[in-house]
Amino acid sequence: MSQQAFEKANQLQAEIEAANPASIEELEQFRIKYLGSKGMLRGLFGEIKTVDNDRKREFGQLINAIKESSETKFRSLLDGLEAKADTGKGDLDLSAPGEPFPIGSRHPVSILMNRIVEIFERIGFVVAEDREIEDDWHNFTAMNTPADHPARDMQDTFYLMNDPAMLLRTHTSSVQSRVMTSQKPPIRIIAPGRVYRNETISARSHCQFHQVEGLYVDENVSFADMKQTLYYFARELYGDTKIRLRPSYFPFTEPSAEMDVYWGLKDEIDHKITKGTGWLEVLGCGMVDPEVLENCGIDSKKYTGFAFGMGIDRQAMLKYRISDIRYLFENDVRFLKQFSSAI
Ligand code: PHE
Repeated sequence: MSQQAFEKANQLQAEIEAANPASIEELEQFRIKYLGSKGMLRGLFGEIKTVDNDRKREFGQLINAIKESSETKFRSLLDGLEAKADTGKGDLDLSAPGEPFPIGSRHPVSILMNRIVEIFERIGFVVAEDREIEDDWHNFTAMNTPADHPARDMQDTFYLMNDPAMLLRTHTSSVQSRVMTSQKPPIRIIAPGRVYRNETISARSHCQFHQVEGLYVDENVSFADMKQTLYYFARELYGDTKIRLRPSYFPFTEPSAEMDVYWGLKDEIDHKITKGTGWLEVLGCGMVDPEVLENCGIDSKKYTGFAFGMGIDRQAMLKYRISDIRYLFENDVRFLKQFSSAI
């Protein structure tokens, strides 16, 4: 009697080992046939009563081993088949339309800043970027603005609380001193970046804004070179226009000037923007003060240079007809996505 039960068990074990279900459906058939509540393994357990008492223990161990190995086989087959299903193999539809995904848009300030940089790159200027947390020397002292200089009042500075020798740069002119102390002429850089001034936030002004700085130092650089460079720039950015230079004052340039671009007086808005003059104030510029060159270790008898700096945010507001500067810093996607077609 016992012999028959053992043979049945061995046969079933061989059968289970040989089985090779190749799909989830076939595996389910496998499970029902061998492991299910009415399956063949269950049937084997029913055979125990036919086994002689002295071999019952041996038989029990055998069918338990078969049960365990069958369950292990089932689980590993299931894992394999599910993993295969996850890769989508077999049901990949190559003709299905792609999933659209939203593309971001450039910030209007970045758009304008990139355009300005690109205009200067075309005539040999190289981008220079530097830190926003700057020391007093690079922002002011090197730029001919020592501690007691009245011009410091023009720029309300954020000093660092734990180190008053450190500040948030008030202009990108700090990049001038950074570059001049680390490079030898000829120097031709264009420096875009963010600057900070302790100003009351309103529709017209903010405590953070953006500038683009330019610096050209070489032998025989003249005021005429500056004028021509800036004229080229104004026409590239504003189209067929005129410029004018008005005398001005900056501690780090001598002589200094402010450049206006002719905007026109076609409608009431133009009158408002240009305060009725038709001219738009665009940038500050001048010949690098020899004192600044010397502060930075450049021989002012051999080299001369010009520099200019302009604010970006107001120009961006004019270009894109943005009425309030605060929109530029709020990161509201309803505002930002309006610029998605611009580059
Ligand atoms: N740094 C000046 C400003 O912030 C602009 C400027 C730069 C003027 C370079 C002259 C030369 O107003």
